[in-house]
Amino acid sequence: MDLSVFSTIESQSSEEDKKSFLACQAAVREIKGEYAYLEIGSYLGGSIQPHLLDTKCRTIISIDKRPKTQPDERGFDWTYLENSTDRMIDNLKRVAPEYVEKIKTIDGSTEEIDPSTIEGPIDLCLIDGEHTDAAMRRDFEFCLSVLNERGG
Ligand SMILES: C[S@@+](CC[C@H](N)C(=O)[O-])C[C@H]1O[C@@H](n2cnc3c(N)ncnc32)[C@H](O)[C@@H]1O
Repeated sequence: MDLSVFSTIESQSSEEDKKSFLACQAAVREIKGEYAYLEIGSYLGGSIQPHLLDTKCRTIISIDKRPKTQPDERGFDWTYLENSTDRMIDNLKRVAPEYVEKIKTIDGSTEEIDPSTIEGPIDLCLIDGEHTDAAMRRDFEFCLSVLNERGG
């Protein structure tokens, strides 16, 4: 539960979020041994860091549509500046260059991705893309379709 694993890349997630992420990671690595992680919404790569560093994480799939602005249920559109996959990968190379090859990136949204193209099964998902009810539900259903029976 050492939050310093998030220290190289700025994350949009709160300290409490990060503790929850690490608790889920600890659970899945204990239950599964090796695991596959899928994330929807990665921006700079902040929430990927602990999985990149984890030798028990064998693969990381990052899905991010990277739109210029995105609707948000909190009532205003959000803009993520200089949002690109290349920038994220460069950031993650600063964390652990030797493990970056385990990351597969998909520039897109779950509404346009066929779940059967995901190399699964996946053991752990994080949904942090478009923060609207409709997108959350769509992303949740996508995750359910790629998770293994005991995934979360
Ligand atoms: C809150 S940021 C992710 C932060 C990251 N998880 C972290 O903790 O550092 C949200 C990301 O969702 C992406 N996004 C927006 N709409 C999306 C969509 N429909 N599908 C997938 N990703 C989307 C944005 O491009 C942005 O990079």
